[in-house]
Amino acid sequence: MEIKAIRGFNDILPQEIGKWHFVEDTARDVFENFGFSELRIPVIERTDLFARGIGEATDIVEKEMYTFTDKGGNSLTLRPEATASMARAYLEHQMYSFDPVAKVYFMGPMFRYERPQKGRYRQFYQIDAEVFGVDNPMVDAEVIVMLMHFLHKVGLQTLELQINSLGCRECRPRYREELKRFFEKKSFQLCEDCQRRLQTNPLRILDCKVEGCKESIANAPRVTDFICSNCKEHFSRVKEYLTVAGVQFDVNPNMVRGLDYYTRTCFEVVSYDLGSQNAVTGGGRYDNLFQEIGGLDIPGIGFAIGMERLVSLLPKDRTFLKTPHLFIATLGDETNKEAYQLANELHLRGIRAELDYEGKSLKSQMRRAGKLNASYVLILGGDELKQGKAVLRNMGDKSQEEVPIKDLASLLQSKLPRL
Ligand code: HAM
Repeated sequence: MEIKAIRGFNDILPQEIGKWHFVEDTARDVFENFGFSELRIPVIERTDLFARGIGEATDIVEKEMYTFTDKGGNSLTLRPEATASMARAYLEHQMYSFDPVAKVYFMGPMFRYERPQKGRYRQFYQIDAEVFGVDNPMVDAEVIVMLMHFLHKVGLQTLELQINSLGCRECRPRYREELKRFFEKKSFQLCEDCQRRLQTNPLRILDCKVEGCKESIANAPRVTDFICSNCKEHFSRVKEYLTVAGVQFDVNPNMVRGLDYYTRTCFEVVSYDLGSQNAVTGGGRYDNLFQEIGGLDIPGIGFAIGMERLVSLLPKDRTFLKTPHLFIATLGDETNKEAYQLANELHLRGIRAELDYEGKSLKSQMRRAGKLNASYVLILGGDELKQGKAVLRNMGDKSQEEVPIKDLASLLQSKLPRL
């Protein structure tokens, strides 16, 4: 039986990879301009890190983690997200002793055992950025400004930034109680999941997409009416800094996010071009996470962008493929060696050259050059070759000229603007 990839795990094919490289290169460029450096984390961590960091009562920890016991009897988990690992690395390497403020980013695959559908996979890639060590609302805004700048730079236009404040350890329990009381009165209207959430995590009910629940949610008490004066002040400063930077946003009081570590600012960027899985990015502040994973009292804020969702939104009319600069076509077997040597030489000089390996006719070589979208074709053979020359055909305007082979590399370099 033919072996296929596992459900929810995707191959990213050469025809698509140009888009991924473009997004990743742009992220590195933008983030590094904002003072961020890359921090690479392992694929596997101790299960406890995620259980304590993300929260026992979240969907991720309750039912979506790829957890296994290794040969030494340790419970390990494939990372479902990057924030907890990056916080662990910051603590473990005492990065705060160099500078209390750390701006770090990471790109790589995450693993969640979710029900696969369009835009939702079991292995998916995130680009993640975090700032550790600052609770100033200016940083909340700066992180969001960087995110929006990045999303615009890769060509996304129709996006909506939604923000909310989830309060802090002091004020959230009161809101949680209020919400629980409210939903208890309506529990008969709630779906099975929300009945359970009522006991474990009533805030998550606000995020439910089931019609019956949505009706009850519409009149639920709003978190922004319950947060303490410090959190209110923090939130209004975040909004002020965003406005100063010219970033548009909507306050969505029902946005609660799926991870328990959030405090105060949280945000999502949604695209209405995406269908039901419409969040391109999620993020927020997590001022208790470091303590939850056994560390110091250090605040943090960050976001993660879903790469598959972002790539699917890139402008359709842009081609990100790296096509050959030159296809070397040969007339007869005796020119094969010349073609091979010439291709090697051009590769070393940074020119993408392709050639025929199968002794095909000139017609079929030209067809292949067209299919590969080569910019030029060099026709090697006949009398011209004896004089050190060959015919260079421009595949765009179909013009042809005879060129000295020894000058080919510099000639192509002058013709191809991006070399
Ligand atoms: P999250 O909302 O769970 O947050 O994920 C962030 C983004 O990852 C989502 O908006 C979505 O684009 C993408 N994503 C999540 N799950 C899947 C999936 N199964 N398939 C495809 N894409 C998916 C976090 O992970 C937090 N660590 C974000 C963060 C960083 N908060 C603070 N710092």
